[in-house]
Amino acid sequence: MRVGILTGGGDCPGLNAVIRAVVKRGTQLGHTFVGIKDGWRGLISANYVDLDTAAVAGLLARGGTILGTSRTNPFKKDGDVEKVLANLKKDKIDALVCIGGDDTLGVASKLFDMGIKTVGVPKTIDNDLSCTDFTFGFDTAISIVCEAMDRLRTTTEAHHRVMVVEVMGRHAGWIAVYGGLAGGADLILIPEEPFGMDEVCRVVQGRKQGGFNYSIIMVAEGAMPKQTEGFVTKDSTVDAFGHVKLGGIGEMLAKEIEKRTSLETRHVVLGHLQRGGSPTAHDRILATRYGVKAIELVHEGKFGRMAALNGNKVVDASLKDSTGKTKTVDKETYEVAKVFFG
Ligand code: F6P
Repeated sequence: MRVGILTGGGDCPGLNAVIRAVVKRGTQLGHTFVGIKDGWRGLISANYVDLDTAAVAGLLARGGTILGTSRTNPFKKDGDVEKVLANLKKDKIDALVCIGGDDTLGVASKLFDMGIKTVGVPKTIDNDLSCTDFTFGFDTAISIVCEAMDRLRTTTEAHHRVMVVEVMGRHAGWIAVYGGLAGGADLILIPEEPFGMDEVCRVVQGRKQGGFNYSIIMVAEGAMPKQTEGFVTKDSTVDAFGHVKLGGIGEMLAKEIEKRTSLETRHVVLGHLQRGGSPTAHDRILATRYGVKAIELVHEGKFGRMAALNGNKVVDASLKDSTGKTKTVDKETYEVAKVFFG
């Protein structure tokens, strides 16, 4: 088969490792490859690049994606999906390996329903995709958060301050909970449990009274105070999949804590640092296993499926079941984090 590979949505460490694995294993199985540039946008405009084993050599450790990415939704603008279907036919692309999160794989699922042979690979630093225990990229993101926490601890402690650390994750608190657990946060605020300002202030004041002269609070970008309605956003624009740009909760929280407690407070937004650079060893291996599984699904004719992690086994799950619903943080994990609050 001639197989197209595309990467869509926010980039994520490990994308290139998946591309490498798909092409290496697929070539052994007798398939050929075409790289589609910038996610679904490249299929609308027929923008491709040749992919063979030479083109993917040395990619294992490289961050970003050699194919480029975008948040293009071919179901958004009239005529775009027809262009995708026409280009697949004209350019003789028999099947697609789509590497993405909920948005990209949601499109892959819809195209499968329309008769296109799609297979998915679960990518996102947010770890919010259903039907898989972990997405690749998440481990790298929490390792970056953990390192930042270690650094922030020394300066926060030296100045006897409160530090609010805002992390990504959209409407799920996975990065905050895992990054906060690994980095020893004194409080972790996540979208799954709206927080009260009084409780937050009680934690930092309680620490001070208990002889701890500093506090570090981890806040997920999608966390919400109980009193307000809606998320804190950068502006009112939405992307092609209807997502608002989250951000600003860290600053808001820091100002409010300082106002209410008179404790000197700073905030830091880790932002896109969490998505940059090389994947961790864990993510290189997970991305590689996912890539091998994805092309084997293509080879076996199992379309409409996604490579997924179940325990330590790479299995396959339906694209339909995996998309359209956010996998949020489970109560048990958050309860473990709460043991260390205060
Ligand atoms: O979905 C991954 C993610 O990094 C989210 O955590 C974050 O809200 C969003 O992408 C940021 O998107 P952009 O790169 O478009 O600002």
